[in-house]
Amino acid sequence: MARKFFVGGNFKMNGSRASIKKIVEDLNDADLPSDVGMEVVIAPPALYIHCAKELLKNPEIKVSAQNAFPKPSGAYTGEIAAPQIKDAGADWVILGHSERRTINKESDDFVAEKTAHALENGLGVILCIGELLEERDTGMTLVVCNRQLDAVIDKVKDWSNIVIAYEPVWAIGTGLAATPEDAQSTHSEIRHYLAEKLGEDQASKIRILYGGSVNGKNAKSFNACPDIDGYLVGGASLKPEFIEIIKSRE
Ligand code: G3P
Repeated sequence: MARKFFVGGNFKMNGSRASIKKIVEDLNDADLPSDVGMEVVIAPPALYIHCAKELLKNPEIKVSAQNAFPKPSGAYTGEIAAPQIKDAGADWVILGHSERRTINKESDDFVAEKTAHALENGLGVILCIGELLEERDTGMTLVVCNRQLDAVIDKVKDWSNIVIAYEPVWAIGTGLAATPEDAQSTHSEIRHYLAEKLGEDQASKIRILYGGSVNGKNAKSFNACPDIDGYLVGGASLKPEFIEIIKSRE
């Protein structure tokens, strides 16, 4: 099953109108692989979704939000809603990022509720899962990932608009990416679990991205991994090397 390669750039709480304009202009000027085998998505802070969308010239490059509240509107000060994200021009939303699970105390069930709501409102979901260092060190990686997946499986049966981002928390922002072998092994186990729960057909189609210190130097090393279908890039997505990462698939 050929899965469309997917490169996401999670800008996190970084950037300004000027810096995001520069990133988009660099993407516009880059001769990215024009084959239909790739999807590029940038996730600026919500304040800049609309201007990023307006500045993008390549229709193949889409915009994502970094979060969405599971209600279409209402008295939820500071939150943003899926219909508003669509209205601003984004097609995707990152949900369940480890920073929101830890800092904002988002439970597996809340992430699942957000995922179901975002899908119902026409957004694609980049669903982040991944274990903490102490969980890895105690052999709990798959227990944690499967638990995080189960919460969403309970609420969502059609995963055709979900892309999973496996982000070992101990690799995020540390410069210490997982080895391709370790990442491939975990991705393969995640896909096997999805096959058990959702069936082989759906599991074979779901893209599983790797995230955690991907950069212009190590991106190519993941290319030979059959169950790594792309990347969710943090820090490096703010730099010109983001384009090298996108091109690493060539
Ligand atoms: O969502 C992607 C992010 O968590 C990875 O961050 O800086 O390690 O690429 P970074």
